[in-house]
Amino acid sequence: MRVLGIESSCDETGIAVMDSEQGLMAHNVYSQIELHAEYGGVVPELASRDHIRKALPLIRSTLDEAKIKSENLDGVAYTAGPGLIGALLVGASLGRSLAWGWGIPSVAVHHMEGHLLAPMLEAEKPEFPFIALLVSGGHTLLVQVAGVGRYKVLGESLDDAVGEAFDKTAKLLGLPYPGGPELAKLAEQGNPERFTFPRPMVNRPGLDFSFSGLKTFALNTVNNVEGTDQDKADIARAFEDAVVDTLFIKCRRAIEKTRLSTLIVSGGVGANQRLRQKLGTLDANVFYPRPEYCTDNGAMIAYAGMLRLQAGEFEPKEIQVRPRWSLEDLTAV
Ligand code: KG4
Ligand code: ZN
Repeated sequence: MRVLGIESSCDETGIAVMDSEQGLMAHNVYSQIELHAEYGGVVPELASRDHIRKALPLIRSTLDEAKIKSENLDGVAYTAGPGLIGALLVGASLGRSLAWGWGIPSVAVHHMEGHLLAPMLEAEKPEFPFIALLVSGGHTLLVQVAGVGRYKVLGESLDDAVGEAFDKTAKLLGLPYPGGPELAKLAEQGNPERFTFPRPMVNRPGLDFSFSGLKTFALNTVNNVEGTDQDKADIARAFEDAVVDTLFIKCRRAIEKTRLSTLIVSGGVGANQRLRQKLGTLDANVFYPRPEYCTDNGAMIAYAGMLRLQAGEFEPKEIQVRPRWSLEDLTAV
């Protein structure tokens, strides 16, 4: 089976062709980072418009790169959520229209299932069951994964996502968007002994996270120093240490709770080196997809969609009318 994958949930247009026998045939990501940089964050309307501009040409070039034509495709997978509504609608309308035009099925993919299955794109794959730590600009989730589609959310952020906390704190320090990698770079020059930030929610039972307080703590600390380069680096280091420690403590707790010994880490923040070092000390096998599969991409969507199409799932194409329709089937408004 050969599947075209379309990702457009946020600020990356990702297109891929996945083959059940040959694996990934081609994948390309167009990032809108430059477009949003001057606003210091993603502007949803600009994101939607740019997906419209970029998606079709990127589909064409990705099919060319895979050396196949649309006739050689068996299905189309597109990200149906969660994400920015306008951006999602671009990929969904395009995916469903192309599938309809080509006479093949389409399937709606959950963006976080894509991230969660991304390590499966590697030759050395984790085996089910495992725990997934999904850490991106939009999500912070700890999930117990028994198999494809068999997910139990163990914990999530009650406020800011961890990547969002990185980005907001970076902005406070005057770093460009997206600030996560910039803050990590600055933290390398920082003195870890100078400031100690709180480790939110670690003294409470459970596996939920909260990161918005750290951002406020960073703001108060910024307001109490002169603002030299060294001050900023020290704050960056204290912030990063607090985030990494918190994620580490929750992962260790999830491992103890579930008695599972495999952890996968996916999403943009998974690129953070200090996080990787710290998670490496866990009593578990830790898997990371390579960076290009860690951040938003079409390959993970094509892969998740392929598994669902193979299992017989697809979106109905027909327009539905009902000759028999009980009034009692209507939902209450
Ligand atoms: O998964 P992703 O590419 O996009 C989604 O949000 O879905 O994640 C992007 C997030 C941004 O918040 C970015 O600042 C953060 O990941 N990030 C990092 C690092 N690289 C990317 N945060 C900390 N350290 C990094 N090295
Ligand atoms: Zn994502």
